[in-house]
This record gives sequence, structure tokens and C-alpha cells, in this order.
Amino acid sequence: MASTQGAQILVASNRGPVSYTLEEDGSLTARRGGGGLVSGLSAIGPDAGAVWVCAALGDGDREAVRRTGGTLDPADTGGQHVRMLGIAPDVYDDAYNGIANSVLWFVHHMLYQTPLEPAFGAEFRAQWASYEAYNRAFAEALADEAGQGAAVVVQDYHLVLVPGMLRELRPDLRIGHFSHTPWAPVDYFRMLPDDIAREVLRGILGADRAAFLTWRWANAFTTCCMELLGPDALADTRIGVHGLGADADFLRERSRQEDVEERIAVLRGQVGPGRKTIVRVDRTELSKNIVRGLLAFRQLLEDHPEWREQVVHIAMAYPSRQDLAVYRDYMAEVRRLTEEINEQYGTPGWTPVQLHLKDDFARSLAAYRIADVALVNPIRDGMNLVAKEVPVVSDEGCALVLSREAGAYEELGEDAITVNPYDVSGTAQALHEALTLPDGDRIERAKRLAASATSLPPTQWFLDQLHALD
Ligand code: G6P
Repeated sequence: MASTQGAQILVASNRGPVSYTLEEDGSLTARRGGGGLVSGLSAIGPDAGAVWVCAALGDGDREAVRRTGGTLDPADTGGQHVRMLGIAPDVYDDAYNGIANSVLWFVHHMLYQTPLEPAFGAEFRAQWASYEAYNRAFAEALADEAGQGAAVVVQDYHLVLVPGMLRELRPDLRIGHFSHTPWAPVDYFRMLPDDIAREVLRGILGADRAAFLTWRWANAFTTCCMELLGPDALADTRIGVHGLGADADFLRERSRQEDVEERIAVLRGQVGPGRKTIVRVDRTELSKNIVRGLLAFRQLLEDHPEWREQVVHIAMAYPSRQDLAVYRDYMAEVRRLTEEINEQYGTPGWTPVQLHLKDDFARSLAAYRIADVALVNPIRDGMNLVAKEVPVVSDEGCALVLSREAGAYEELGEDAITVNPYDVSGTAQALHEALTLPDGDRIERAKRLAASATSLPPTQWFLDQLHALD
């Protein structure tokens, strides 16, 4: 039950700040992750005694949990108190791959091919039971770690049931939920079976405060609540918005380091002298729309032959969620289309699309620095930090081609060249426009983009979530 000794600040997320690899000699290597939450939490410092509850993602993590009982060695976590949950692999697989990534992610990003999918049958129901069990494991661990009246910030679509479950276990806690994804419009959200749709909403409404990256997603959530649960649904839950921004200090410092300079030299060699670059950097998620980006680049070469031999599309498409066949197929299509374009248009001295599949942060930063144009065209995206990072880092002030369906559009739309992500011809035209922006205009826009992109650094974003629970 409630211990007065317990933590006063708790974070819960599926992916924690560290992951372990089990080496052949039986030792464990810890690798620390980056991202908004990690830098956000650093704002409160180790003395605050915050506890981060996360799941063991793979065999290395599960082994670390077995050896430590779940409370990780602070030497592995940069001093943070991390409690890692060793959830049974089949339960975890159902919850993470089955529900979180194949159902909730698909609903909020509107990715279903509706004549065939979804079909919510027995398999879905079994996976949902695992998702409940996985959420319950988090709720119980949080209830166990939290001191009287503590603040708990629960992150994302993996853990939508946690606030409601935790509220029942520990009515004294102040609970926030933060969604990093878009929220589906009500007509799309209603595809979920009614009981499940309501369970999702009620789960989040167990929080004192439900927060989102933009008002667009927050409003979609409130509409779902009102229509599915009735006009009083929001009586006990406040709604908030915190638009996570780029970490300017970190990016500027990191992108000037030696390994980035080395990669710039390599990339420049591959691009060739005098050519312009269109850069994209994504995890290969279905929502990132990499394929239509390639189609648009091909159409640019078709509609504007003057760009042949004059521009290179550098596409970083890093593997993501490769346990799911649909993600592997998507990755294969990105590869196939790249080859097709290069065969169709390439010349001995010019490879039009340069595709990079191996995740390398220093090389991503190198690409940001040499970008003339950044292409960020997701079908839907909670925010999209690449759109915010490139203008901060680019050496010459890049132009930004930005999907109007990215959360970042609300803040950056005015100075970006915006596109409908489904409109391939429109995107090709936007690329042409971006490539031909006069220098002065492009540089001024990039300055304004960088200023808005960094107005809410991760530390502030995290503190705002916490303070809003006071
Ligand atoms: C994207 C989303 C986040 C989400 C993350 C999970 O980055 O924007 O909302 O938490 O994916 O990714 P993972 O690799 O853990 O499945």
C-alpha cells in the first residue's frame, strides 16, 4: 500500500531510458536511449528521487530484470531510478505488437485498409486481455513505488488503461496521461468495438489531466469522450496541451562534433559537387509516408527535367517494429522503389536516391546540416521532431516541406511549404518550390522555423506536465 517513503515523481512508459544486450559471455551491456522523455526527466535532477517504470523489451532486458529483481543499477541508467517490468514474452508481444502497434497506432494514424482490415475477432479479444494484463502490471508497480500524494505521468498509447487502474489502487495520487500520437477523429475511432472504445477512453479519464501535443488531437479526444460516453464524461479530467520542441542546445553542440564532420564529408562525396539535397530522416513507420515521398521525388524529375543530375534525395529510413510483417513489407517497398528510380534516372555519376537503412544518429545530423530541403510528409504524426530539428541544425538554412497532418504544422505551417501527404503531384511541386526559394527568403524562414521549433525544450515540456498536476 501507500508508503510515505515512496517516490514523489513517477514516469511510466513502455520503452525505458536503457536497454540491455545479453553478450555471448553471459554479461549484459547497457545502452542508454535518447528522446524527449530522457532529456525531459533530466530537468528535475537525481535528487528529486523520481522513479521511471518501464517494460523489459527483449531477452537482454528480461535477463537484467531476472538478475536485479527489476530495480536497475543506477550506474546503467545515468543515475536514474528505473524499475523494469519483466512481463511474460507472449503477453508482451500481444500487448505491444498486437494491440499497441497494430490496433491503437493504426486507429490514431488512420492506417487501416478498410475493405479488409480491421476485423476484430477472437484473436483481437485474446490480445486485448494481454494488453489489460500488461497495463495492470504497470499500475501495480506504480502503486507500489509511489509515495503519498505523488505525481505520476503516464506516457502514450501503450498505457491508456493505467490511469484508471491506478486511480482505483491509489486514489491519493495525482495522475497525468500524455499522448504522443495524434488522436483519431470520432468516426474513425468508432471502428473499435464499442466496449473497447469506451474502455480506452475511461482508462485515460482515470487521470486528473489528459494531455496532448496539439489542440487538434486534444479536441478529437474530447469529441470521442462526449459522443461515446456522454456530456459529463470530462467532469473529472482536465485537458491540456504541451507541444514538445527540439532540444536546441544539445543539437547544436552534438552536430558540431568530429564524427558528424566525418559523415558530412562522406555524404558530400556521395552527393557530388554543386548538387542540391532533399533530406528525410525517419524511422520506417507506415505513417511516415516514405513511399509517397519517393514517388513525389520521381515526379519532380519527370515534371522538371532541369533537376536531373542536379539534386539528390538522401533518405534515411531506419528499421522500426520489424516484428510486424506489414512493417517489413513497407521497408521492402521503400527499397524496391528506390532501386526502380535509380535505374530509371540514374547516370554513371549520379545516384538520384541515396537510401540509408542503418540507424546512425551522427549521420542523421550530418544530413540535417547539408540539407537544402527537408521533406517531412507523414500521413499523420503526433508532432514530428525531425521537422523541428533540421532547421535548427542546417548549415545554410534549409527549406521545409511539411505535411499539414503533422502536429508540427500548427507551429511551423507558416514558414514551411505545406503539403497534403496523399497528393504526390502536389508534393512534387512543393519540392520544386522549396528548391527554388530565393536564398534570402529561405534563410529568413529557416530562422523563424528554428525559433518556433525550440520554444518548448524537452525539459520545460516535462516540467509543464508535472506542474500542471499541482
Ligand atoms: C513513435 C511515437 C511515440 C512512441 C514511439 C514508440 O516515436 O511518436 O509516440 O512512443 O514511437 O516507438 P517504439 O519503437 O517503442 O515502438
